[in-house]
Amino acid sequence: MKKKLSLLVAGLVAFAVPAKAAEEGTPAKGISYSFEGPFGTFDRAQLQRGYKVYKEVCSGCHSMKYVAFRNLSDKGGPAFTVEQTKALAATFTVKDGPDKDGNMFDRPGLPSDYFPSPFPNPEAAAAANGGAIPPDLSLITKAREGWHGTFNQLVNGIGGPQYVYSLITGYSEPDEALKKEQPEGKYYNKYFASGHWISMPPPLADGQVTFDDGAPNTLDDMARDVSAYLAWTAEPKMEERKQTGFMVLIYLAVLAGLMYFVKKRVWSDLH
Ligand code: HEC
Repeated sequence: MKKKLSLLVAGLVAFAVPAKAAEEGTPAKGISYSFEGPFGTFDRAQLQRGYKVYKEVCSGCHSMKYVAFRNLSDKGGPAFTVEQTKALAATFTVKDGPDKDGNMFDRPGLPSDYFPSPFPNPEAAAAANGGAIPPDLSLITKAREGWHGTFNQLVNGIGGPQYVYSLITGYSEPDEALKKEQPEGKYYNKYFASGHWISMPPPLADGQVTFDDGAPNTLDDMARDVSAYLAWTAEPKMEERKQTGFMVLIYLAVLAGLMYFVKKRVWSDLH
């Protein structure tokens, strides 16, 4: 029995240790978001601003193929109206076809379309970016970790949005010694998970995107907004999940109470 138990524990531990443990980089900056904690929700205005940053800047290189335009008006998301969503979709160009002559053609996006890739194929994407392919951003905040260690992550979450925030705000001049090793067309970023030299040029600078709600648009603000938006694209049902989880806990608490009295009643003759 003891042996079985220790095997089980060993198995669980092995399972919980992140697969990328070998690649531990600089821990992300520990900024906080409105959607953290068991009751945290997304800040709608922030998601709308984050969308704008993605649209005006990131979508020039990155696709977001698991998110459809119609999702922008879903409950628990940025809460654009259906009309706004239609208009936003139409600002993208989508490949469709073939038409009756067998040709592919371009048309404006519809709410049912998914965010398109700015490049026709991965080869074109690599060629335009010094050999590196800009990854799809739909799930990036789940695919990267901001801090390391199983216990740390159990308590603080994996820190995906913080990683994206730190990456965007984390460009700096390498010191003299490192500068000598600088590969051509790469930039120094100590937060980058795979080795500090990244092919993405610093994507954002102060004041680059103007927000409709007049919110501040320093590099720091825009990086917060776009990373929050990417947290939503990676987990669009987060608010629903938390609500359901809370209801389940209440249900279980009531059930446990009832069971206690049932047990007392059933065993009452024997005591
Ligand atoms: C000029 C093109 C370009 C723009 C604009 C751009 N990126 Fe990138 N991005 C890249 C490339 C290329 C890579 C791959 C870098 C590499 O592997 O060295 C990348 C990688 C990334 C990564 C993954 C890093 C990792 O850990 O693998 C994230 C996250 C990211 N970009 C976020 C953004 C965000 C957010 C924006 C908008 C604010 C943005 N990018 C704008 C080209 C771009």
